[in-house]
Amino acid sequence: MGRPIAMFDSGFGGLTVARALIDLMPHEHLVYLGDTGRYPYGPRPPEEVRCFALQITDELLRYDPKALVVACNTAGAVALEELQDRLDIPVFGVIDPGVRSLIQATRNGRVGVIGTVGTINSGAYQRAVGSAAPQLELTALACPGLVEFVERGETDSEQVHVLAQRLLAPAIEAGVDALLLGCTHYPYLARTLGDVMGRDVVLVSSADETAFEVSHLLGGPGAEDTETPAPTFLTTGDVEWFTDLGGRLLGPELAGARQVVWD
Ligand code: DGL
Repeated sequence: MGRPIAMFDSGFGGLTVARALIDLMPHEHLVYLGDTGRYPYGPRPPEEVRCFALQITDELLRYDPKALVVACNTAGAVALEELQDRLDIPVFGVIDPGVRSLIQATRNGRVGVIGTVGTINSGAYQRAVGSAAPQLELTALACPGLVEFVERGETDSEQVHVLAQRLLAPAIEAGVDALLLGCTHYPYLARTLGDVMGRDVVLVSSADETAFEVSHLLGGPGAEDTETPAPTFLTTGDVEWFTDLGGRLLGPELAGARQVVWD
């Protein structure tokens, strides 16, 4: 088996990116770490999230990966550049790929991005859109509370609908025709978010574009060998819950997880 592709998120959100990678590059071995013991990252101080990202990366480096995917906007916003500088393997984020998809999706030039408090306050999306497509009118909205619904496995309840209605109202008022889900957890809320935004608004996720970028850089959809290695899943939280909810969200590839215990 070749060297794996390592990836991490605060919890289950990065599984949206893992799904896209497994589908696009089925012959690659994936090692995924979900920091479910310490989620959510969104409300935490940037320095704390940065330390988590560095610690998790050290853990993942034990697997001798050939690339690292920071499948978390909040962590990427504060640590991506540092990780790219420190590591001698390619390090991918989700923010730039998401912005590329957003630019392609809009027709009227009014776009929205939703993310955690940490991501939106970091200004990472405002900077990325401002430099890639300054002509776009961007509405950036922090959405505290949405991640917690996903982590509880509650993706379609009345409560999450009511919260989404309140949080997304400014994007509807601004007349956006494309909304970037700037948190990897949010695609699991797509039905709710789509209902709230209405059929004319395109929901954009960074998962596919990130997977395409990884595949492009690592040399195409499949490694030379034809085996399909089972992904490795690690969690810092409850293993049973990770396996149960993770399996429901990702699919049958998540058949078991191992617990990471920090020294
Ligand atoms: N999935 C994460 C992101 O993309 C983080 C969510 C959280 O832990 O608050 O930002």
